[in-house]
Amino acid sequence: MQITTHETRPIGGQKPGTSGLRKKTKVFMGPHYVENFVQSVFDAVGGIEGKTLVVGGDGRYFNAQAIQVILRMAAANGAAHCIVGREGLLSTPAASNLIRTRGADGGLILSASHNPGGPEEDFGIKYNTANGGPAPESVTAAIHARTEEITVYRIMEAQDIDLSALGETTLDRMTVEVVDPVTDYAALMEKLFDFDAIRRLFASGFTMRFDAMHAVTGPYAKTIIEGMLGAPEGSVVNAVPLPDFGGGHPDPNPVWAKELMDLMMGEDAPDLGAASDGDGDRNMIVGRGAYVTPSDSLAVLAANAHLAPGYADGLTGVARSMPTSRAADRVAQYLDIPAYETPTGWKFFGNLLDGGHATLCGEESAGTGSDHVREKDGLWAVLLWLNILAARGQSVADILTAHWSDYGRDYYSRHDYEGVDSAKARALMDDVRNHLDTLPGQSFAGLEVEAADDFAYTDPVDGSEATSQGLRVTFTNGARLVLRLSGTGTVGATLRVYLEQHEGDPAQQHRDPQEALADVIAAADALAGITERTGRDAPDVRT
Ligand code: G6P
Ligand code: ZN
Repeated sequence: MQITTHETRPIGGQKPGTSGLRKKTKVFMGPHYVENFVQSVFDAVGGIEGKTLVVGGDGRYFNAQAIQVILRMAAANGAAHCIVGREGLLSTPAASNLIRTRGADGGLILSASHNPGGPEEDFGIKYNTANGGPAPESVTAAIHARTEEITVYRIMEAQDIDLSALGETTLDRMTVEVVDPVTDYAALMEKLFDFDAIRRLFASGFTMRFDAMHAVTGPYAKTIIEGMLGAPEGSVVNAVPLPDFGGGHPDPNPVWAKELMDLMMGEDAPDLGAASDGDGDRNMIVGRGAYVTPSDSLAVLAANAHLAPGYADGLTGVARSMPTSRAADRVAQYLDIPAYETPTGWKFFGNLLDGGHATLCGEESAGTGSDHVREKDGLWAVLLWLNILAARGQSVADILTAHWSDYGRDYYSRHDYEGVDSAKARALMDDVRNHLDTLPGQSFAGLEVEAADDFAYTDPVDGSEATSQGLRVTFTNGARLVLRLSGTGTVGATLRVYLEQHEGDPAQQHRDPQEALADVIAAADALAGITERTGRDAPDVRT
């Protein structure tokens, strides 16, 4: 077998965003695109000679071809061992787990998460480090720098490796080990949760629907929920991963998982509804007639995690991204454990988890997870909810009601304005940023600003700094507004407006969130001129 050293030239725009490099699939399929990026990753991490890598993706269009390229390049760059999920499939949390349990040096995960897949849609590649987590900013910056100066990449001239059969083969001096994507992950879940209690719950007639959205969690959910936990067959739907996710957006929220939402709000709703995204790290939880916001989910999980064997000793701390509601902070305060507020992006939780400072982490963007891996984990969140439901013997709605009456309810919604002209979106943000210090004391649509800042974060473990992570405005009535531009879009800019309002009175805790948030929604528009500047009279998405 022959190693070829190809001359190449830098390709612009290979800058990893919130979660790896994400572009239109066609861009990735362009000449040398994958090769340049993958070689830049290998170079930026000091080469991969003798190293072990985990490789897998969410099965979207181009997943299989990209994996073959990565394997040939890994071999040509001297890697000793690549662990690959069968058919190239690995959910993001399962890849994180494999990196950790197998002591791998890192991994390449192929996914554009919840973005649609297909030749006209999105693709992505992300590098995870030896702790199993997304590469920190220092590493992604080094990768990006390398993409701007790359002159050669190395690749093996070889046939495709058969990824359909378990076991080991070799590619020159490198071993390729094809593993079942589910086995190790399922074993980890069985250690963390009381599977007997959940089995009894299902045996007693408890019903659920898990919507895998034609994405990677299908096989995981089938094996664990129907197989190991005994939920009736058919509890897991859309369970076969498809390259285009059946034409849908594999994003578990009320907008994209509408079918599930309709079921859960209807007469025939099962006890629990849940869904996960393209690569299996996001989750949606919905009870009969009761949608659980990701921010509330984190708070409820924090308050009840001790009911699961893996967390019986309690939590060391809780972390949330800045735009996530402050509901989890209230639980942390009650438990007398630290609450951390980090920038958006799971990578910012890495050091807190590694250092044992936080056990649970969560984001408003439907991500929840713990120190069991270094990624958010969709199915894990569903299983923790199942464990809690089994232990408490109450419905999702009753658990929420009890939680709100204990801690108050943080009404919460995110309004997204998608595909906004990038220059206009930046101008809007700049304008608010430039006026931040004049805001306190001023009123907007009747709400008085208490404090306003441009969120910056200093990592308590390694002292690294992240600045300009979103504009925060708090009001004297306890409301909060956050403005931020998305870091994961592939077209134009997405303006995210995060809105919340605490409500302590149990009699007022069952209102429609959009209505309960009407004042802060109006204040956001008055303060930032959203309607005027974007030319939109309503957001594209309300979560
Ligand atoms: C990805 C990351 C999350 C992050 C989310 C935010 O899913 O893994 O950690 O919260 O993106 O995306 P945004 O589009 O708001 O930058
Ligand atoms: Zn995802």
